[in-house]
Amino acid sequence: MTHEIAVIPGDGIGQEVTPAAVEVLEAIDAVDFDFIEGEAGDAVKAETGEALPEETRELAADADATLFGAAGETAAEVILPLRQVVGSFANVRPARSYPGLDAVQPDTDIVFIRENTEGVYKGIESEISEGVTTCTRVITEDASEKIAEYGFSYAKQNGYDDVTIAHKANVMRTTDGLFLGAASAVGDDRGASYDTALMDALAMHLVMNPQDYGVVICPNLAGDMLSDLAAGLVGGLGLLPSANIGEDNALFEPVHGSAPDIAGEGIANPSAMILSAAMLLDHLGYDEQGDAVRTAVETVLDSGPRTPDLGGDASTDAVTAAVIDEL
Ligand code: NAD
Ligand code: IPM
Ligand code: MN
Repeated sequence: MTHEIAVIPGDGIGQEVTPAAVEVLEAIDAVDFDFIEGEAGDAVKAETGEALPEETRELAADADATLFGAAGETAAEVILPLRQVVGSFANVRPARSYPGLDAVQPDTDIVFIRENTEGVYKGIESEISEGVTTCTRVITEDASEKIAEYGFSYAKQNGYDDVTIAHKANVMRTTDGLFLGAASAVGDDRGASYDTALMDALAMHLVMNPQDYGVVICPNLAGDMLSDLAAGLVGGLGLLPSANIGEDNALFEPVHGSAPDIAGEGIANPSAMILSAAMLLDHLGYDEQGDAVRTAVETVLDSGPRTPDLGGDASTDAVTAAVIDEL
């Protein structure tokens, strides 16, 4: 069986790390892929006026799964619609510390389960008069229950004992009150144990004691910010993959952006993107191959070449070649 994969490299280092992930997937003999490339991002917008051409949208809608690199200034015009195109309701963002790396915090193994459809990401903003603007934050019971169901199932299936529901219901009493109530009810109905945490204090606890956390279920914007915070705990954004999971489609992308500060130099860390490809393998049912890719990345991080963000001087290509060698 051949799996059709939409490949959307985008801008900046997206153009550098996406081919690395494709090369790794191509090196897996047990699985056949047909990669079809699509354009999106700043460059295509400058050329055509549209950051996400209809063709690319359709490519992602029709593929078995999508690999996305990163976009630059147009990122919101690209990735937010793409997350909708694949019908993703859960954004899964694992943050792990790797042996051998001087992580700020060792023994970190946290998976953020980020709500992926609503909150401030509905994009309902207006300027009601000069100097006065508003943003409408949408929280629904359905989406809150759905992300909590996903989060509790994920914790159970993957052996995480600690589940935390992040919220700010002391201020956003109605919206986060609903999120907290709906997510807690899911935990209660399942007889699961869980904690709830105000997200400001949670940010501090994550920095000081990340070992105390496993699965963190969060509203959309909180998941965006807390996952970058966790990247800082384990060695940076070059290490964090993610999966956007829908009912019957999914998109895989690193948590990082187009990194204009290092783009074009061939020194981006491909690990986040390669680990996203491992999540794609899991999603298609190739858990064994997904594990093999993770082990290869882990081995290279421990004792192989490293890119400058991790203190080394290796290129993206050298790290990718080392991962493929390990496979
Ligand atoms: P960023 O994630 O691009 O970069 C933040 C920092 O992390 C930079 O110093 C960068 O060099 C470093 N970094 C990120 N990925 C790395 C990697 N793989 N290897 C080594 N270092 C890496 O975030 P930013 O600088 O805030 O945003 C830059 C652009 O990216 C903006 O235009 C933003 O809109 C866009 N962005 C896009 C996405 C996306 O497409 N999904 C996500 C976040 C930001
Ligand atoms: C991410 C990014 C996106 C987000 C932006 C670029 C729209 O920061 O994937 O983390 O906020 O979700
Ligand atoms: Mn982000």
